[in-house]
Amino acid sequence: MDRIRIVGGHRLNGEISISGAKNAALPLIIASLLTEEPLTLENVPSLADVEQLIRILGNHGVDYALHGRRKAHTSSSYARVMRFEARNIVNIIAPYDLVSRMRAGFWVIGPLLARMGEAEISLPGGCAIGTRPVDFILDGLRALGAVITIENGYVHARAAKGLHGASYHFPKITVGGTHVLLMAASLAKGETVLHNAAQEPEVVNLAECLTAMGAQISGAGTRTIRIKGVEYLSGAQVKVIPDRIEAGTYAFAAAATGGNVLLRGANPNHLPIVLEKLQQAGARVDWEEDGVRIRREAPFITPVDIETAAYPGFPTDLQAQFMGLMTRAQGTAKITETIFENRFMHVQELARLGAHISLAGQTAEVEGVPLLQGAQVMATDLRASVSLVIAGLMAEGETIVNRVYHLDRGFERLEEKLAACGAEIERLRS
Ligand code: UD1
Repeated sequence: MDRIRIVGGHRLNGEISISGAKNAALPLIIASLLTEEPLTLENVPSLADVEQLIRILGNHGVDYALHGRRKAHTSSSYARVMRFEARNIVNIIAPYDLVSRMRAGFWVIGPLLARMGEAEISLPGGCAIGTRPVDFILDGLRALGAVITIENGYVHARAAKGLHGASYHFPKITVGGTHVLLMAASLAKGETVLHNAAQEPEVVNLAECLTAMGAQISGAGTRTIRIKGVEYLSGAQVKVIPDRIEAGTYAFAAAATGGNVLLRGANPNHLPIVLEKLQQAGARVDWEEDGVRIRREAPFITPVDIETAAYPGFPTDLQAQFMGLMTRAQGTAKITETIFENRFMHVQELARLGAHISLAGQTAEVEGVPLLQGAQVMATDLRASVSLVIAGLMAEGETIVNRVYHLDRGFERLEEKLAACGAEIERLRS
């Protein structure tokens, strides 16, 4: 298993290009199942999760081409243009060994059901960050007319006469649930209204894609989305938005090291609270023509409290990284996680580097320390692993991050991007 070696203490200075968003690319790729025509996506990141999803779609009969070449080696380039073509769906079953590794794999249930009238999907996997049920997704599909049974770890969904429009209120905001219902409703008969829908930029990106394919959608980006279903969706060409989580992560890394970094291609409009909190922590944020510049000239990091929430609140996917930054603050910061009940596994790993963090329920109290010291640490999930990288960049001496495969699920060329800004970081392959 690969490891990452970091020798901390170097300021980050330079530019980092922000990749296409993993959390937008995944639903857009899945949307290709809705049409027999090709869906071309620009700016697709090269990530383990994307490759895994391509395997899942391959099992349903989706063909793909990279930069116009059929079945080319997928991870050979960046900002990829990929074409997906689901001319014939050959299989409506998504088996355990494919879906268990990645939660987003479950979302194929929406388009398969809408287009084929049937889907049989293994219950999902993903990061070990808490229970992540799919009950709202299934209730929403039932509202659209699906008959759903669960047996032997598989969800069997049927709509022999097709789906029909309906009104559905999500009891709790779920991004994945909003994606699935948006896709399913686009091919349902009549109008669907989704209440308490997720407002994340990735939902807006998917709605743009479905609209380009011929769906009639209004309200994406607000809590109420209206979808007028159509009989047929066509192919389209759509660009994946920049990854706001990757941008936020490098923004924190720049501030953590007292550096000066231009996040090229980042969209500051997608990072409202994140940039505000970063400024409160003592960083300067400048919007530039082609991105956001983050610098910290202040001699110390000011403690700032955060509480995760659905967009436009502070993203749960940046909680661990912000905690990494706060480990060196001058004072105590309170970090409250409201989306997942078990998303503090990075706490004990940060403690190995000398961080002082105490946990009480859903809140972590981070008492900043003047010095972190390098150590061996273990990545426990995707975002937690990168918080260890941020801490390692600040720590004195050598930090080794084990189980880097978590990182590879969601960060493209991480060590290359950081090294180009002056970090002493390398991948130890094994
Ligand atoms: C959530 C985050 C998203 C992040 C992703 C991965 C929010 C609103 N969403 O996505 O930004 O990228 O995690 O870290 O912050 N739930 C149910 N039943 C369901 C679906 C969800 O109870 O059918 C609950 C979950 O237990 C959890 C919450 O809703 O508390 C969100 O869970 P989930 O849908 O898995 O995550 P997403 O909202 O898709």
